[in-house]
Amino acid sequence: MKDKIKIGIIGCGTIANSAHIPAYLESPIAEIKYFCDIIPERADNAVKKYGCGKAVYNYKEILDDPELDAVSVCTHNDMHSVISIDFMNHGKDVLCEKPAARILSEALEMEKVSYETGRILSIGVCNRYSNAVNRIRDMIANGELGEVYHVYASFRAHRSIPGLGGDFTTFASSGGGALIDWGVHYIDLIMYCLNDPKVLTCSGEAFCKLGKDMKNYVYENMWAKDSSDIENGVYDVDDSVVGLIRTDRSVISFNGAWAQNIGINETYIDFMGDKGGVRLQYGGGFTYYTAKDGALLEIKPKFEMNAIHRSEVLDFAECVRKGERNRNDIKYAVGTSKIMQAIYDSSEKHEEIKIKE
Ligand SMILES: NC(=O)c1ccc[n+]([C@@H]2O[C@H](COP(=O)([O-])OP(=O)(O)OC[C@H]3O[C@@H](n4cnc5c(N)ncnc54)[C@H](O)[C@@H]3O)[C@@H](O)[C@H]2O)c1
Repeated sequence: MKDKIKIGIIGCGTIANSAHIPAYLESPIAEIKYFCDIIPERADNAVKKYGCGKAVYNYKEILDDPELDAVSVCTHNDMHSVISIDFMNHGKDVLCEKPAARILSEALEMEKVSYETGRILSIGVCNRYSNAVNRIRDMIANGELGEVYHVYASFRAHRSIPGLGGDFTTFASSGGGALIDWGVHYIDLIMYCLNDPKVLTCSGEAFCKLGKDMKNYVYENMWAKDSSDIENGVYDVDDSVVGLIRTDRSVISFNGAWAQNIGINETYIDFMGDKGGVRLQYGGGFTYYTAKDGALLEIKPKFEMNAIHRSEVLDFAECVRKGERNRNDIKYAVGTSKIMQAIYDSSEKHEEIKIKE
């Protein structure tokens, strides 16, 4: 086992700078060897800012470096599968940001290459590292909620479309909008807590409404604004979505929106069991509801919250060193990808989709 692993950062934008790079810098077992971005100043700035590594502008230049152990793929969705597959085929392990891919066929190809080459492919579904999420997972496994018959997720914002007209709102780059960008985290988290029930059917509708008239879209704030292109850009993804997923155990339903004409921002997941229920505030803590001795109980556990991206990256580094797959393995992301694909297919056909084995 190596003492230290060497890492390449592919795409030096927001998530790379806010999550991946700081965590690797903190890790005693990882060293960043390359900062790669097709915008040269982003790679150059990273070398200057962090005082380590070498700037490269084309990831293909570093594929054959025998010293390089692993990469974090932090580009937009359209390059996730291409870059991850290239690195795995050159013997490198990969931590690729969510969503694994734009469409199911890309995610399946990533899984195939990962298992054929034996390279680790972890996907950035960081909620699997949340202390709150893991407590809920344990409570469900221990039967504290009884039979969890329904899980409902709300990931709704009033006006929060990212980078209008840019990569996020262009189907060819992103593969989808509110569902693939936000919903992916919620569906993954729920499937993780429920310990991967078998999915039977999916039904959904995805709407492209409020951002379509880009010039007249009114908003309070816009994240990823630097990628916005209202004059020449494209807007052809879902800005809201509803769905119903039947599994062999629980039913999962959700209502998601980057934008809606309802002035609320609601991000929570309700796990409803016949013995108890839990409301998890996304990215925060949770409340447990039950009844005991003729009284209704409402318990808000207090525990240390952790930095989930940091935990995810540190775990990936450790798994690369040991040569072990982790809880973010591509096989779980393929499951989520199947669900999202089925929701989009259902929306297009306006009918329920049966999930094959
Ligand atoms: N896990 C999370 O919670 C989370 C949060 C934010 C973003 N993300 C995901 O991270 C990804 C990136 O999002 P972002 O907000 O950081 O975007 P960003 O635009 O800020 O950064 C992407 C960077 O990749 C670079 N890039 C594009 N193609 C490249 C290539 N072929 N080689 C090298 N560099 C390339 C771009 O120039 C840019 O600097 C998206 O897939 C997004 O869904 C995940």
